[in-house]
Amino acid sequence: LKGVASRAGSREPGKSADYYLHESLMAPNAFVVPNFPANVMPQNFAQTLSAQQIDDLVAYLKTLK
Ligand code: HEM
Repeated sequence: LKGVASRAGSREPGKSADYYLHESLMAPNAFVVPNFPANVMPQNFAQTLSAQQIDDLVAYLKTLK
């Protein structure tokens, strides 16, 4: 995940880094990084983490420049 903060805003056209990072946790298959298989990321963070925990993870990921 090193550098994810720098590339998150350009993975999906028109979608912000915040949006992309949130989506990557809540719905990992919505966009899968090219050359990676789908269904590797855990698919249940939306159930197992609270909204606060998701927000905290996104804030942390944004520090990985
Ligand atoms: C709290 C734990 C995790 C966080 C915060 C997280 C976060 C992320 C994020 C932000 C991306 C997008 C990276 C990018 O666009 O450059 C990603 C992709 C990926 N993650 Fe995770 N992840 C977690 C756990 C895992 C686990 C446990 C696995 C596998 C055992 C995994 C496998 C992958 C793979 C293969 C990708 C690339 C394919 C894709 O886009 O889905 N992740 N992850």
